[in-house]
Amino acid sequence: MTTREGLTEKTLKAWSPESWRQYEARQMPNYPDLNILKEVEADLSGRPPLVSAGEARRLKRGLAKVAAGEAFLLQGGDCAESFREFSAEGVRDTFRVLLQMAVVLTFAASKPVVKVGRIAGQFAKPRSSDTEIIDGVELPSYRGDSVNDAAFTLESRTPDPKRLIRAYDQSASTLNLLRALASGGYADLDNVHQWTLDFLANSPAGKTYQSYADRISEALAFMRACGVTGDAAPSLQSVDFFTSHEALHLPFEEALTRRDENGRWYATSAHMIWIGDRTRQPDGAHVEYCRGVDNPIGIKCGPTLDPDDLIRLIDAINPHDEAGRIVLIARMGADNVEKHLPNLARKVKASGRSVVWSSDPMHGNTHKASNGYKTRDFDRVLRELTGFIDVLRAEGVEPGGVHFEMTGRDVTECVGGAGHLSEADLGSRYHTHCDPRLNADQALEMAFQIAEALKPHARKKAVAAAE
Ligand code: TRP
Ligand code: MN
Repeated sequence: MTTREGLTEKTLKAWSPESWRQYEARQMPNYPDLNILKEVEADLSGRPPLVSAGEARRLKRGLAKVAAGEAFLLQGGDCAESFREFSAEGVRDTFRVLLQMAVVLTFAASKPVVKVGRIAGQFAKPRSSDTEIIDGVELPSYRGDSVNDAAFTLESRTPDPKRLIRAYDQSASTLNLLRALASGGYADLDNVHQWTLDFLANSPAGKTYQSYADRISEALAFMRACGVTGDAAPSLQSVDFFTSHEALHLPFEEALTRRDENGRWYATSAHMIWIGDRTRQPDGAHVEYCRGVDNPIGIKCGPTLDPDDLIRLIDAINPHDEAGRIVLIARMGADNVEKHLPNLARKVKASGRSVVWSSDPMHGNTHKASNGYKTRDFDRVLRELTGFIDVLRAEGVEPGGVHFEMTGRDVTECVGGAGHLSEADLGSRYHTHCDPRLNADQALEMAFQIAEALKPHARKKAVAAAE
């Protein structure tokens, strides 16, 4: 392997689930009563893990395939989950749009798609300021439902440790439903037509999906005639579905850290966790926590990330260069991706380290509509995505995946797309209490676009192989 210029002091120091406490932890809530927090941590520490180490290892094997260019990563879900908006229908609808996107991408790219929800634990949000001032009144900022409530009153905004228990409980029931959906027959490829949501049936995206589904059904019927049925090939009947969230609230993550039978530590709050763009300081507490657990770790890469710091981060988190361990999630903004991504991609490639490169085309493309709504423009999101693919290909690096803020519901939060949502439409079903999400229609359309962008390359490779 190449030189270890990025090897920091930290890599050599002992790690423990609480060693992050010796480092600066940004974005932590200010709890008025730390004793209650301690009690909650003790309570959570005694609860069952949400996911198992074996499952996290299975995801890592899938991501190792992505890193090798043999699979594609699809990650998506709410910006932030909410206590109030929690429902079985909501979870199911997000899951089924992800299935639709996955099936389209699998079909188009002829590659397995690793499916990861931004779900069952995405409750804590980083903020640019500790407090918010409205009409001269200053209150703590809203930091996600696991910390406080968004309503602008002192009572709502005061961080309450007990909310962590509720976040755990909601994550557990969400996961329970997801497991049932993933393996109980719902995700069977024979249902490819049934995943269409009612409101999608007549939209342009719905129609395109229909034609994909027809072709897939046809292929399945052919396979069946050849003797390849669900009984002979159980993988046709279920999916592996994984969960992920930002590892922001470190006391929560610490309380759910467990040792597996081989003595290795895992974050059992989700299969994959990521480090946000605001908490990725190489000498910070979030990096310290993540380096010691064996799960796949995402690193959000924004325009201010220094290439040398990125190598330092990769070294600290993945000193043995294990494939599938690191997912670099670029979130540059449509106007910045050509400027900032090439250096990072080049540096990582030259270092020889194995990583997955994924694109988050959402967070660098948020703006305020003229009527005040925080929104994102479908075309800009798509432009960052295609820019990401082009930049990486020019560097000889595989575009490995995508990361979306999306919902299975018919919301009006992002403008554009084939349904031509305009700024004037935003008011009708603007439900997010955090960032604007692609609705089901827009998410599906995004999948068609990615499928197109990935296709020519797949063909070029096939031709090259045949020559
Ligand atoms: N199990 C395979 C996979 O996950 C095939 C599959 C079954 C599938 N149901 C699916 C693929 C739904 C996409 C969507 O890839
Ligand atoms: Mn967000």
